[in-house]
Amino acid sequence: MRLERFVSHALGLPRRRARELILSGEIAVDGEVERRPAARVGPGATVNCRGEDVAPPGHLYLMLHKPCGLISATRDDRQATVLSLLPEALARRVHPVGRLDKDTSGLLLLTSDGDWSHRVSSPRHACRKVYRATLAEPLVNDAEVRLAHGLVLRNEARPTRPATLQRLAPDAVLIGVTEGRYHLVRRLFAALGNRVTTLHREQVGGLVLDVALQPGEWRHLDADEVRRVLTSSE
Ligand code: URA
Repeated sequence: MRLERFVSHALGLPRRRARELILSGEIAVDGEVERRPAARVGPGATVNCRGEDVAPPGHLYLMLHKPCGLISATRDDRQATVLSLLPEALARRVHPVGRLDKDTSGLLLLTSDGDWSHRVSSPRHACRKVYRATLAEPLVNDAEVRLAHGLVLRNEARPTRPATLQRLAPDAVLIGVTEGRYHLVRRLFAALGNRVTTLHREQVGGLVLDVALQPGEWRHLDADEVRRVLTSSE
């Protein structure tokens, strides 16, 4: 997108006013003043107006490497939320897609697009999520079969949907689930007589957490990645 259009849409200004701001050197792209109204703005570029980050027009789709210690909510009176990791101009517009527990790290999606968020989270869509878990005890031998059949969790009547398991070590696994029940992974391992000591989400649908992102870092998704979330892959 051209800078003039970006600024005009993002700030809700007439094109003429956006152009004036650019020509007068008030707009920076990726930290450099940009005075060319026709300059191209790439999908991950940061645009800044008079020292404030400007969120791009249209819907926002972000991936965050969530660190432990923050809650997955848009606001909370007592605890810091994942939105505290974003520039204000973005934090004002996005919400987390589903939740990770405070002490779970890994891939968290954030968006301004309620329909997309709903589809990713909806049980009807059965979007697959993959977690890396470390366990307090070595895992029982029949865990694969029991997870594939579904387990009845404490205080619930309906068994869980089939989950897949890949053993990485006697006390470390990758587990794939297609539903979003509260504390699901921790409760699955509790039902197998074990306890999760660390939990990290690596994948949502066909999208894997970018290994270049350190805990607390985020980036925009490109259009292909936005689509890929809704394709589940093994
Ligand atoms: N399952 C859990 O138990 N915790 C999470 O954060 C995500 C899935």
